[in-house]
Amino acid sequence: MDASTPTTSVMQRLTRSGQRGVLRFLTCGSVDDGKSTLIGRLLYDSKLLFEDQINVLQRDSRKHGTTGDEIDFALLLDGLEAEREQGITIDVAYRFFATEKRKFVVADTPGHEQYTRNMATGASTADVAVMMIDARKGVLVQTLRHTYIARMMGIRHVVLAVNKMDLADHSSGRFHEIVADYLKNAEDLGFDSITPIPMSARYGDNVTRRSEAMKWYTGPTLLEHLETLDVESDLLEQPFRMPVQWVNRPNLNFRGYSGLIVSGRIRIGDPIVVAQSGLVANVERIVTADGDLEEAHAGDSVTLVLNHEIDVSRGDVLAAAEHRPEVSDQFAAEVLWMNEHELLPGRSYLLKIGTAVTPATVSALKHRIDVNSYEKLPAKSLEMNGIGMCNLSTARPIAFDRYQDVRDMGAFILIDRFTNQTVGAGMIEFGLRRASNIHKHAMDVSKAQRAQIKAQKPAILWFTGLSGAGKSTVANAVERKLADAGHHTYSLDGDNVRHGLNRDLGFTDVDRVENIRRIGEVGKLFVDAGLIVTCSFISPFQSERQMVRELVEEGEFVEVFVDTPLEVCIERDPKGLYKKAQAGEIKNFTGFDSPYEAPENPEIRLDTTSISVEDAADQVIARLREMGHLG
Ligand code: ADX
Repeated sequence: MDASTPTTSVMQRLTRSGQRGVLRFLTCGSVDDGKSTLIGRLLYDSKLLFEDQINVLQRDSRKHGTTGDEIDFALLLDGLEAEREQGITIDVAYRFFATEKRKFVVADTPGHEQYTRNMATGASTADVAVMMIDARKGVLVQTLRHTYIARMMGIRHVVLAVNKMDLADHSSGRFHEIVADYLKNAEDLGFDSITPIPMSARYGDNVTRRSEAMKWYTGPTLLEHLETLDVESDLLEQPFRMPVQWVNRPNLNFRGYSGLIVSGRIRIGDPIVVAQSGLVANVERIVTADGDLEEAHAGDSVTLVLNHEIDVSRGDVLAAAEHRPEVSDQFAAEVLWMNEHELLPGRSYLLKIGTAVTPATVSALKHRIDVNSYEKLPAKSLEMNGIGMCNLSTARPIAFDRYQDVRDMGAFILIDRFTNQTVGAGMIEFGLRRASNIHKHAMDVSKAQRAQIKAQKPAILWFTGLSGAGKSTVANAVERKLADAGHHTYSLDGDNVRHGLNRDLGFTDVDRVENIRRIGEVGKLFVDAGLIVTCSFISPFQSERQMVRELVEEGEFVEVFVDTPLEVCIERDPKGLYKKAQAGEIKNFTGFDSPYEAPENPEIRLDTTSISVEDAADQVIARLREMGHLG
């Protein structure tokens, strides 16, 4: 299943907040717990089904004969399953209904084990999670998993819907047993409310009308509870936050900042701050499509005009001046991974938070969480559906609040830089203090001065290619020629560095990413020293080569693709490693059971099958001269 494209659009809701006056809830449960029946019952009882839909339903119910003369509400949603199989609908279906008291949006997500991602997607905008439990089965491992994800996504209210009570003799003893079992596990997660309701969705008992068969239950029906639950005041009590979507400047006389208010409220005259820069101003006008407002709230899309001009651009956050968000480039977050390619600490992803996008890496994966037992386990990477506690570092400082405090200011998504797929979702737990305590020290001698003394423009010559392609051999010839001509060089080489600095690293994907990240940082230091440094590493992944490219200035990274076909490398086999790999004695060998992603646009491509080492080195040096590196 690949739902990445539609999921991306749904996941963008992570950064959008709900409409006021609407209650958003999510139903969670295993396949047969009665989720579909419950949603169908709510839609039916709130009279939102069209007559003809009901007729079809009655006919189908009789045909399928699962419920006698009763309507089988599950059939109502089964059409969706069929669509899903054809890949038409997204993995989360949103449904709308209304009673006289309230409007509702319900997110229905598939109940299968592996669909953590879909559940998280649905949960990311929900106010309430309705946990469906089959009274006969009780609390399952999945119930705990869904509860954990709901909490992680910031849901504060849970309804424990103990369903199929008709099949458990409407027993109050059984109901209380299940409730106690659930509370034992969920109590510590810190929900604002957990409301257990015994019900029978098929017959409507305690869904929209009180159950005759369970007179012992005196609490509200599900609908009553959902109609009256207060979830709005929270959002309005939070501090004012508005990520700027765009700067609205139709003519020289008007300049406004447009966006969705994600929390709090704002009035004309209020002081606001641009979180990232600390610049302050007062609100002069609140402009909307329906005219000016005196005051606006979370959920409103507005254009703010300020009393004097300050520098604001897309991605900035306008915030209450007396209650500012954190601004940092390092923070701890809980990350949910949603891609079949594992999360690799050290790899650069795009992080989108609010309206800001910036490159980011997971700098440390502290542990992963077993969502079935809530245990913390050691981990080096996260697989699809995995949840982990991570430290992240961003290329630019971002403005954020703890997810727990302001949901839309603490939620982010991670995007793969090459496929553009949404690969992860995260919730910020706190900013790292060390980020604010470490400041760059300005040195008197600059890179330019160091390079000038050497009469050259520093560069990283990055040789990439398969093992045995000839990277080190050509790099060696290049360095010799440069040194002979009086240039200042250094060389970093896979085999050599792995004996020292990177002695602790092997050849898993995780380790290769870290290998290249460290070499990139070292290469950058050499460039800063004014040197021309050759780096010879298989460096099999595009992402990491791109990351090194971005570490240095434009023109300083020169990618040399040593393009020797695998067959030729196998034939050369200078270290006898291919023989070993073929015999199964080496694991994760590039070209065999570990991939190599060839560069798409290298500065230089060398075909070592048709030219000599000397010619190859001359080609590299000619290109360096062309690019102005040799003075
Ligand atoms: S990289 O993938 O992380 O960039 P690097 O260039 O540092 O690799 O190291 C590659 C060298 O390590 C190869 O030239 C080879 O001599 C040796 N080596 C040992 N095991 C492997 C392996 N499983 N895959 C690739 N190279 C290996």
